[in-house]
Amino acid sequence: METVVSGIRSTGNLHLGNYYGAIQNFVKMQKEYNCYFFIADLHSLTTHPTPADLHGNVKQVLIEYLAAGIDPEKATIYIQSDVPEVAELYLYLNMNAYLGELERSTSFKDKIRSQPDNVNAGLLTYPVLMAADIIIHKAVKVPVGKDQEQHLEMARTFANRFNRLYNRECFPEPYAFNFSSSLVKIPGLDGKGKMGKSEGEGNAVYLSDSPDVIRKKVMKAVTDGGPQTENQEKPEEIQNLFDIMKVVSTPDTLEHFDNLYNSMNIRYGDFKKQLAEDIVLATAPIRERIKDISTDASYLRQVARHGAIKARESASRTIKEVREIIGFRSF
Ligand code: TYM
Repeated sequence: METVVSGIRSTGNLHLGNYYGAIQNFVKMQKEYNCYFFIADLHSLTTHPTPADLHGNVKQVLIEYLAAGIDPEKATIYIQSDVPEVAELYLYLNMNAYLGELERSTSFKDKIRSQPDNVNAGLLTYPVLMAADIIIHKAVKVPVGKDQEQHLEMARTFANRFNRLYNRECFPEPYAFNFSSSLVKIPGLDGKGKMGKSEGEGNAVYLSDSPDVIRKKVMKAVTDGGPQTENQEKPEEIQNLFDIMKVVSTPDTLEHFDNLYNSMNIRYGDFKKQLAEDIVLATAPIRERIKDISTDASYLRQVARHGAIKARESASRTIKEVREIIGFRSF
């Protein structure tokens, strides 16, 4: 059975982008593949969270994984820092990752721009840690959103380079995966770019947002003065709202508003009201389960412990092999 790995940084609550870009695929894949889904708390250290925030965020992501339908009986759910073998593999891969290629990564360039006062080595080698996460379980499929495509390309580079250096077929090549034909990018509500945790207030709709908060955010979403001609191309901020509608609403609803736009009869107030209600409906079951699971500390503890044991079994197998290949042999 093919192995699947994916993770989400523990930097706060999960949003619609995380759900439709990644988690929805996790839930489907757990039925068919050998899946490892983790919470990337080591990755979150690049932004220096306080210990209390770090722990709270890890717990929240664990709750939301479970609430969204990841089943610990089917998939291995674990916290990255519970598997120290990942950090060890990261160290080995770092010896074989080059400054030039790391500096060229788009995410690194973005981070230099967004946090110029904290350009730490962890940011630079972020794609190496991500490669370690994936190849530690010898995964071949990685369910992620479109923004992670370049990281997957780098993971393949590091895996292949290790194989070539030691002339061994240790790691298979991992590829980004989505059940639909292409990787997904969910736009934000602010009219530009993707939905993201660090994109500013009001950009993201969180799975834990109450219906009222969802309605307020959507009603405030950026729109323009309306179409000027029939069948015109939609400007980015309008296309973005249609893109969100595509994932939360029925095809009929989408077509209805598309026709209204094309005939210049659309009223953005009605359009946004419908979009907000469809988001509320789509997220309702998750919101309910978040409430239930949040209070069940013993269940969360059990899931995390069980996941750590299973993930370490797989990771330590790989590390044993890697140590042997590198030449760390016992006397
Ligand atoms: P992160 O935490 O930024 O996002 C987690 C997942 O959600 C997807 N995603 C989106 N998809 C579509 N539209 C959006 N607006 C959107 N925003 C986020 C991301 O593509 C991702 O799949 N480096 C990773 C975490 C990570 C990882 C890994 C993933 C660490 N190690 C190993 C896979 C395998 C990250 O920062 O994702």
